[in-house]
Amino acid sequence: MKKNDIGVIGMAVMGRNLALNIAKSGYNVAIFNRTINKTKDVMLKCSEKNISPYFLIQDFLRSLKKPRRILLMVQSGQATDDIINVLTPYLNSGDIIIDGGNSFYKDTIRRSKDLLKNNVSFLGVGISGGEYGALNGPSIMPGGQKSAYDIVKPIFKSIASKFKNQPCVAYIGPNGSGHYVKMVHNGIEYADMQLISEVYIILKNIVNYSNKEISDVFDIWNQGELNSYLIDITKNILRKKDHNGDLIDYVLDEAVNKGTGKWTCQDALDLHESLNVITESVFARYVSSLKSQRMLASKILSGPNVSLVSSHKDDFIEDLRKALYLSKIIAYSQGFSQLGSASKKYYWNLKCHEIASIFRSGCIIQADFLNQLVEIYKYDNIIINLLLSPYFQDISKQYQSSLRKIVSYVVKQGIAIPALVSSLTYYDSYRTSQSSANLIQAQRDCFGAHTYKRNDKSGVYHTNWLE
Ligand SMILES: NC(=O)c1ccc[n+]([C@@H]2O[C@H](COP(=O)([O-])OP(=O)(O)OC[C@H]3O[C@@H](n4cnc5c(N)ncnc54)[C@H](OP(=O)(O)O)[C@@H]3O)[C@@H](O)[C@H]2O)c1
Repeated sequence: MKKNDIGVIGMAVMGRNLALNIAKSGYNVAIFNRTINKTKDVMLKCSEKNISPYFLIQDFLRSLKKPRRILLMVQSGQATDDIINVLTPYLNSGDIIIDGGNSFYKDTIRRSKDLLKNNVSFLGVGISGGEYGALNGPSIMPGGQKSAYDIVKPIFKSIASKFKNQPCVAYIGPNGSGHYVKMVHNGIEYADMQLISEVYIILKNIVNYSNKEISDVFDIWNQGELNSYLIDITKNILRKKDHNGDLIDYVLDEAVNKGTGKWTCQDALDLHESLNVITESVFARYVSSLKSQRMLASKILSGPNVSLVSSHKDDFIEDLRKALYLSKIIAYSQGFSQLGSASKKYYWNLKCHEIASIFRSGCIIQADFLNQLVEIYKYDNIIINLLLSPYFQDISKQYQSSLRKIVSYVVKQGIAIPALVSSLTYYDSYRTSQSSANLIQAQRDCFGAHTYKRNDKSGVYHTNWLE
């Protein structure tokens, strides 16, 4: 009986599409799902001959070539532990479990250690691109033992999205590094989406554009330096109709999240990274979910009347484009700075040019702009901040006044643009040689005798400030 090259567990959106993708690439795939009907449903809908369904975990495992390669595409958290516990008694030395879900990287480190006790390898693999990517080519971020990665590499290379014929997969590093990179990727995705949605609300409420006009603006921008998957889908979303008119106007304005953005921010706090654009984007989703409170507050709390942009609209829109681009750069600078800190802390030796390079196709944050990041990091993998690279220095010189104009105009209108504001705040904080932190140090020393350093001589000082 023919043996399968790989087994996929979890036949929800991601698992079933990855299984189909692997099968289309010529591999024999075993599939399994806790709820049997989902496996049956995949078989009813697929025409691939090299996919075999299994309804008992023992049969599924027996069908696999050794060392067995088992891809988990189940809910992150407890579900992942549950399925690993189901598998563990049947695993042999050398078998490889690949967790392709959005697991928290510390869980991945723990699972990896536990499985290694039985000589079972564990790869924590970030997979981006949603349903479409899973079927047609995702961006893949594998972390874990390099020897185990080398065994699954041919499959990953065949199913990954291709950027100029290069597969968007690269070995990220040991233990939790693959899931860490995916987590920060998702954090950046939150910021990208929030920034685009703020630009949308500005075009809608301040420029008074229709959805079609806003879509046309995004369409034009998508042909320039802002070219990206997210701008492209936004342009299409704004054109979608249903029987009432533009569908976007009927979508409830409460943004949901699955936690990867929150993890990115929590980890940034631990690493002392100033991740304010991504963090504001997570907070913006939280505030959005307070719909009933916002409805009430909108009747009670006052703000200014919006004064529409009536003249020089083209200039305003060009400032908006520049503000969006510079803010995007700032969000990525923060995300990649966090990757650098985590790499140092965990000795992962992350190669940022390879990470930027595999983000260029198959994933949600794919964008032309990533070509710049690849070049910058090829030249200097440990650049302290992307904003300091010659290319981004130049952009910030040209674009910072536009970001400033947009933020001050829109804030005066009483429209919330937290990600744009925090981009500018970070930009100004980062370029300030003399901040207000001297006063904070003096206050800390005054009430808590925490001591302070001086800028005119070395040493540590304490003063009785209130004497
Ligand atoms: N959806 C996306 O766009 C996307 C993108 C990238 C990564 N991911 C990640 O990929 C993974 C799969 O995502 P998804 O959206 O396809 O599915 P999902 O809704 O996150 O998870 C559903 C799958 O998990 C299984 N499951 C849940 N609890 C289980 C348990 N205790 N034991 C065994 N199986 C269990 C379900 O089996 P039953 O059918 O039996 O309930 C089902 O197959 C997740 O970690 C997700 O975060 C998702």
